[in-house]
Amino acid sequence: MHTLKVDLGARSYPIHIGRGLLARGELLRPAIAGSRVAVVTNTTVAPLYLQTALAQLASWQPVSVVLPDGEQYKTLDVLNRIFTTLLENRCDRKTTLVALGGGVVGDMTGFAAATYQRGVPFIQIPTTLLAQVDSSVGGKTGVNHPLGKNMIGAFHQPNCVIIDTDTLGTLPDNELSAGLAEVIKYGLIGDAEFFTWLEQNMDRLLKRDPEALAFAIECSCADKARVVAADEREAGVRALLNLGHTFGHAIETGAGYGNWLHGEAVAAGMCMAADLSRRLGWLSAEEFARIEALVRRARLPTRAPKSLSSAQLRELMSVDKKVEAGKLKLVLPKGLGQSVITAEFPPAKLLETLEQCREAA
Ligand SMILES: NC(=O)c1ccc[n+]([C@@H]2O[C@H](COP(=O)([O-])OP(=O)(O)OC[C@H]3O[C@@H](n4cnc5c(N)ncnc54)[C@H](O)[C@@H]3O)[C@@H](O)[C@H]2O)c1
Ligand SMILES: [Zn+2]
Repeated sequence: MHTLKVDLGARSYPIHIGRGLLARGELLRPAIAGSRVAVVTNTTVAPLYLQTALAQLASWQPVSVVLPDGEQYKTLDVLNRIFTTLLENRCDRKTTLVALGGGVVGDMTGFAAATYQRGVPFIQIPTTLLAQVDSSVGGKTGVNHPLGKNMIGAFHQPNCVIIDTDTLGTLPDNELSAGLAEVIKYGLIGDAEFFTWLEQNMDRLLKRDPEALAFAIECSCADKARVVAADEREAGVRALLNLGHTFGHAIETGAGYGNWLHGEAVAAGMCMAADLSRRLGWLSAEEFARIEALVRRARLPTRAPKSLSSAQLRELMSVDKKVEAGKLKLVLPKGLGQSVITAEFPPAKLLETLEQCREAA
């Protein structure tokens, strides 16, 4: 097992990464405050891992909440079911919530923990690659609104993140690929060496080689922990983690929640950001080709769906949280392994990207 630390003063917490950690109750214990625990999961993850998790928590009279599975259920309505179960079971302010599942369960449980009785502690046990490398670390929590993704939320750091890499064994192929999109993102943002490692090891990752996966998860979490420690509330550098996301959120919202996986949309979004950088002269044709090739090798889309016009995409991008005082800010690669946050690009170039980076009709 390897343990990293997210350094946030009094709110610091460990990230444990290794095989079989779900059955290691001693890792949970130090992160539990109070005498009650509620595990939140969904209908897909519950039959696979809930019993093992509950067995570790027997001394805390665990309550479980099993939500429907899917991004389309990441809503205030469904969130309310968590609160109802907690209240029905008389869970008090000292209850610790445990998120057992992918990013949807993690974001919803985190938001429930941020707001239930004005805030209770929580633990992340991410079971998708995407949640293990990204959403479980950093304390962003929330739900979607019909008019925009993740528009309702709060910052609330977990007490501990437990990554059992064995849980990836049951993950569908397309979900594994979706997680790889966020992994590639770390290479592009600020880790050129990791980008090259990914080019050399993509096949091992797709074959789920445990050592390669553990290494990729550790690098990703270390990169994310560093950025979060430097800028917890996204006043500056943390926004770099949004590479590909403003384009991606437009695709996700435009295609309808649940039709494109988050990671798939981010993958296409990163290629669109790289395309814009190329048009601005910030990436060479060869660098752009390497990015697109790596995304394609991870079995991910490199373009937006043809069903969305460039005008629709542009409109959807302006709802994104990254719009400040009417100016759209984007994260754009500037060379391989380096990215910048900028509003300084000619709008016409962005429109060219939106027009050109769509699947052929
Ligand atoms: N908070 C953040 O910082 C942050 C960062 C990135 C993404 N997100 C959010 O994360 C969400 C996407 O997360 P995701 O990709 O994990 O999606 P997800 O939670 O929908 O999980 C994907 C699918 O895999 C299933 N699943 C989970 N674990 C499994 C396992 N071990 N075996 C088999 N099936 C399993 C789930 O039930 C679901 O069907 C989005 O809502 C996105 O906005 C949040
Ligand atoms: Zn993401």
